Amino acid sequence: MVIPSTVKVPWTHAVGLSLDNPGALTEKIKVRSDMVLKVPDNVSDEEASMVEPTAVALHGIHLADVKVGSKVLVIGGGIIGLLSAMFAKKEGASFVAVSETNLKRGEKAVSLGVADKYYNATDENMLNEVISDTNGGFDIVIECCGNASAVTSSLVTVRPGGVVVLVGVATGPISIPTVVAVMNELTVKGAIAYTKEEFATCLDLISNKQIEVMKFVDDIVSYDEVQNAYLRLTSGNDGAVKILVSPNK
Ligand SMILES: NC(=O)c1ccc[n+]([C@@H]2O[C@H](COP(=O)([O-])OP(=O)(O)OC[C@H]3O[C@@H](n4cnc5c(N)ncnc54)[C@H](O)[C@@H]3O)[C@@H](O)[C@H]2O)c1
Repeated sequence: MVIPSTVKVPWTHAVGLSLDNPGALTEKIKVRSDMVLKVPDNVSDEEASMVEPTAVALHGIHLADVKVGSKVLVIGGGIIGLLSAMFAKKEGASFVAVSETNLKRGEKAVSLGVADKYYNATDENMLNEVISDTNGGFDIVIECCGNASAVTSSLVTVRPGGVVVLVGVATGPISIPTVVAVMNELTVKGAIAYTKEEFATCLDLISNKQIEVMKFVDDIVSYDEVQNAYLRLTSGNDGAVKILVSPNK
């Protein structure tokens, strides 16, 4: 099926997604008043800016239905992946791993204490390692990249009957071996954003010091430094995962 260009797909209506809507690299932004929450006095502006990605991760974790003792693989150790791994551990997963093509990010997942292990996603032996570590595959795989290689990886690293949650956003159609999902009767779920409640929960968790989000922040830069920050984050070999932009710098 070809989607006619006149059809607006849902994601084009979200703030900061697509070229049709303004993003947040500005001092002011217009949002619906019923979507605004008061930031508690004990939460800094920097911490408050971390509520959004944290809520994305929490939503994926809720859809994954992580249980005490689950074995969870997070594919992609960007900020969404690291926060997903953090919540998987908090929910009681007995083994949490992150796979990464950028080994500095993989190492970071372990050194920050959100993953027990990281896999080198470019290593041909990764799948054998996964099978051996998990006795046949992860119960849950949370895909946080959005490319064909990562989605394929999610289908083959989950155990038969397991759950794959797709959080990564593919910007166009991608080719993946759906036969693996068919043969192994996988449950594959898409996850978009979060509920209002999940957003509020994340703000509470930060305010109550139940989660520490600033440990994921590598740098805080001014508007003038935004371009360089993007270059660092997209270079594929910089260890930085989250760079905040502050109008006060
Ligand atoms: N569903 C939602 O509501 C939602 C919300 C926010 C972000 N996202 C999406 O989630 C994804 C992650 O966001 P992010 O900000 O953490 O992005 P990011 O680009 O910082 O992180 C992605 C990571 O995946 C790694 N990677 C790429 N290919 C890989 C592979 N084959 N195997 C293992 N690792 C691989 C990259 O090295 C990178 O570190 C993006 O696709 C983003 O668009 C989705």
